[in-house]
Order: sequence, then C-alpha cells, then structure tokens
Amino acid sequence: MKILLIGDIFSKAGREMIENHLGDLKNTKGIQFIVANGENIAHGNGITNNYYKFLLEHHINVVTLGNHSFANHDILNFINEAKNLIRPLNYPKGVPGKGYVTINYNNLKITIFQVMGRTFMNTPLDCPFKATEELLAKVSSDIYICDFHGEATSEKIAFGLYFDGKINIIVGTHTHVQTNDAHLLPNGTLYMTDLGMTGALDGVIGVEKETIIKKFLTGLPVKHIPMETGRKQFNGLIVEINEANHKVTNFEIVNVVK
Ligand SMILES: [Fe+2]
Ligand SMILES: [Fe+2]
Repeated sequence: MKILLIGDIFSKAGREMIENHLGDLKNTKGIQFIVANGENIAHGNGITNNYYKFLLEHHINVVTLGNHSFANHDILNFINEAKNLIRPLNYPKGVPGKGYVTINYNNLKITIFQVMGRTFMNTPLDCPFKATEELLAKVSSDIYICDFHGEATSEKIAFGLYFDGKINIIVGTHTHVQTNDAHLLPNGTLYMTDLGMTGALDGVIGVEKETIIKKFLTGLPVKHIPMETGRKQFNGLIVEINEANHKVTNFEIVNVVK
C-alpha cells in the first residue's frame, strides 16, 4: 500500500493546494491512505470543525495537530467527537482529545499517533519517549505511523533511532521546512526529520514576509498575517509498505511548486 504524509497545511494557500493538487497526486501515484498535519489550516493557527471536514472530504484519513492544536477555540466544540483527529499524545492528562487512532485497512490495523518534542517548544509536556513506549505496550497493531511534532532536529533523530524497528514510519512536522533526509534506519523504520509545509512558498514559513522581517529588525511584536498570494508548495512524503510483512519497500519525497 502507498501512504501519503502531508506537511503542515497552512491557511488558505495550503487549502488551495489540497483542493487543486491532492486528487491528481493521489491518482497518479496510486495513494491509498493519507495522513495530514492540520495545525495551521485555520488562518495559520489551529483548526475548525469545517476545516476538519474539508480534509476528510479530500480523502485524508487522519489529521494530526501540534503546538497549535488548541489555538482556534472551535476545536473544543468537536475534538472529543472527531474520530480521526489526533493531538500530541504527551499532553498532560486531562487535556481534551486523544493522541492516537487505530484504523482498519485491508485487514491491517494501522495505528497513527503524534507526539510533540520538548526542545524549544514552550509547552508543558510529558516525555514523548515514555508516552510512546506506553502506547506501544498498550496498543497492538500491524503498522505504526508517528508524527513527531518538534523543532529540534536532534530530538527527532534521537527519537527515530530509539524506536527504530518498532514504528514503521516516523516523520517530523512543525518546522515548515522540508528536510532531504528520508531514509530507512538500520532496523527498518522509514524516517524523515520534517515533511515541510503545504502553503505559500514566498512567505516566512507561511506568513507574510514584511512583518516577520520587521520583527527581526526591530524586536517589536508584530501581527502574523498568513501569506495567500504568489507561488505555493505541496510538501510531503509517499511511503510504500508491503501489506504482508509490513516492511517499507519504497519512498518518495513530494515537493510540488505551483
Ligand atoms: Fe505548523
Ligand atoms: Fe507546530
């Protein structure tokens, strides 16, 4: 089976890329299963029920979030009912929503989960390594897919190597910058540090450049305005898995610019 993992979908520019190019990509590449990061889909910040439905309508099977999970208050109205929406597993106990979902596909049990890194993230979180160990001990599955939402490349790589052979696919999200390091780890896990972003190409990680440049030049606080014009990018990764032995057989980085 071929699985497509899509990097952070950012605001209107990102939604346009999903609307205009996901169908084509799905058909030409023969994709059967899609996981997408939706933490920035609503004006760059969080997700609404309507945008969650938009992603499901575009054949996305599971939506992951991140540090912006609760940035749009609408999420509190639907997160507990949204079956295929997950936020980081290692939020402290009592936080709404869930950190993983198990889906049956062609007699395979596929568990998709997300953890968030703790380096440079400013969110009080439980340990992502321990949270993952607990999950793997509790939930038995044929295939595990992890979205590691984090800033530090070292934390993501350490996580990948620690769980090499125990999780089939580990991909990073959050930085909005695609890395070129997709590879099989020694024990068979397919690892990539960051999927990148699906949104505007010429802004600063999705945001209008002028205000962000001003912030770096002056230190003054500025309002983040999502960039909606100009060139756009669709970032992700396609992973092919053998359904009989659950091994990754092939992969291809997706970086479409329109
Ligand atoms: Fe993001
Ligand atoms: Fe993020």
